[in-house]
Amino acid sequence: MPRLLVTQRLFDSALALVQGTGIALDARSATSPMTRSELVDALQGCDGVVCMLTDVIDRDLLEANPGLRVVANVAVGHDNIDVAAAQRIGIAVTNTPGVLTGTTADLTFALLLAVARRVVEADAFARSGARTRWELEPAHIGTDVHGAVLGLIGMGRIGQAVAQRAAHGFGMRVVYHSRRRLASDVEVALRATPAALPALLSQAQFVTFHAPATPETHHLIGPYELEQMRPDAVLINTSRGSLVDEDALVAALRSASIAGAGLDVFEREPRIHADLVELREKVVLLPHVGSATVATRTQMAEMAMRNAIAALSGQEPPNLVQVG
Ligand code: GLV
Ligand code: GLV
Repeated sequence: MPRLLVTQRLFDSALALVQGTGIALDARSATSPMTRSELVDALQGCDGVVCMLTDVIDRDLLEANPGLRVVANVAVGHDNIDVAAAQRIGIAVTNTPGVLTGTTADLTFALLLAVARRVVEADAFARSGARTRWELEPAHIGTDVHGAVLGLIGMGRIGQAVAQRAAHGFGMRVVYHSRRRLASDVEVALRATPAALPALLSQAQFVTFHAPATPETHHLIGPYELEQMRPDAVLINTSRGSLVDEDALVAALRSASIAGAGLDVFEREPRIHADLVELREKVVLLPHVGSATVATRTQMAEMAMRNAIAALSGQEPPNLVQVG
């Protein structure tokens, strides 16, 4: 009987999918990640694992468990897994594309609007009791989102869902920088124009990231790129923290060389740069909740389980990740 490890508590509807498959489930009920040594121990003798983006499945771990047949990530990103090493050994890696696209695009707009209209600061002020009158020019006066220029870095599914909201919901002008150019009919539909990174950075009032964490995207935005951004620009990141040099971002926010930031992801999660935490004006921080709605997280968990079950039943998993 194949054994499937589930590294953290999953939704019951996802766990129930193994019924009748002949797979033995070793499902943890804890909601916190295992330590490295717990993970090393737990993986022994397993044929598959359903894991979270907080589980680091590196080459050492894969090589120590060559009997594994599948690593099913409950995430679309898979930078926590050494996919190349898994492929060499013959271990399938799967992710959860598609189901979280709209949800993550929604959260991108939640952050963008929150920073532009200073929602979090204004909420704190409203609750403080310090407000005595309506003001024409309140302390938390904001900037417009509609009609602004949106610079989009990465134009996969999520990037396109953000562009769609930007163009059709907010009448924004979209410029994008991506490995691959969109088909021209898609560009027309999204009212999106391709641009080299420097041109994008010098035009955009909002810059948002929708690219995976890879060696090529590491610190895509550093001191030099931040310097090229407009002084009224707001940086939004709902992809992976490693795309932005966080020290350089802090320095740019401090010196007002850019205006603000909305961040759902960080370089050293779950830790957040202490200086970012101190910055409250036009800075909004979220705890990596881009896909966190009941419907989407449930679908992600079920999708990961289906991928694992397929692989352990000798079928090709529906959402196989391939590199190279
Ligand atoms: C979340 O960050 C994901 O990659 O699904
Ligand atoms: C994620 O689904 C992406 O491809 O952007």
